[in-house]
Amino acid sequence: MKELTKHVGHIDLAMRNSANGHESCVVWFTGLSGSGKSTLAFALEQHLFNRGIHVYTLDGDNVRLGLNSDLDFSLRDRAENLRRIAEVSRLMQQAGLVILAAFISPLESDRALVRSIIGESNFLEIYVSTPLETCISRDPKGLYKKAIEGEIAEFTGISAVYEAPLNAHLTIDTTHKETEEILPQLEKIVLQKIKWNV
Ligand code: ADX
Repeated sequence: MKELTKHVGHIDLAMRNSANGHESCVVWFTGLSGSGKSTLAFALEQHLFNRGIHVYTLDGDNVRLGLNSDLDFSLRDRAENLRRIAEVSRLMQQAGLVILAAFISPLESDRALVRSIIGESNFLEIYVSTPLETCISRDPKGLYKKAIEGEIAEFTGISAVYEAPLNAHLTIDTTHKETEEILPQLEKIVLQKIKWNV
């Protein structure tokens, strides 16, 4: 793409951060379907919003209904799903927002790409490690039942791989914990990251 020129605006990130009163970052939740990623992300969003922080949540089901409605659950399309979301997250982070991104993101290689697109210094990885048995017993969307019965192919944890992250900034198992019990430690590392004075 040699014919493209990158344009630079008059407002840089430091100016946006100063206007917002906090830095921006991407908080990336990874874990099985039903592990609690979206629940935690939306609860955290509410807490941060209540403090006056500029925050927005991107969630797997929502993004796949719109931007990525052309993609399926093959490893190739999951990689493209996550690449696009990482690029969108990066743009929103550059716009000064705190982005909470909740996607299964099952492969270490895809998560490494996400990290490199967003940039290590702007990135927090949260591993929602709730075990498969808990996710199957919750089965909020009835998808595990269908996957076990063979009605859905390539379902993460049943017929498609999930690689646990080794270098997450925080690991959370929601099996025996309420969302409100978990939120303080989650909120703490995000507030530190964005240099919010508590
Ligand atoms: S990812 O693997 O590409 O990161 P993503 O987070 O966008 O997945 O989407 C996951 C959501 O899609 C799940 O929460 C579930 O509701 C739905 N889904 C439908 N089919 C599958 C499948 N084969 N594997 C996993 N999730 C699926």
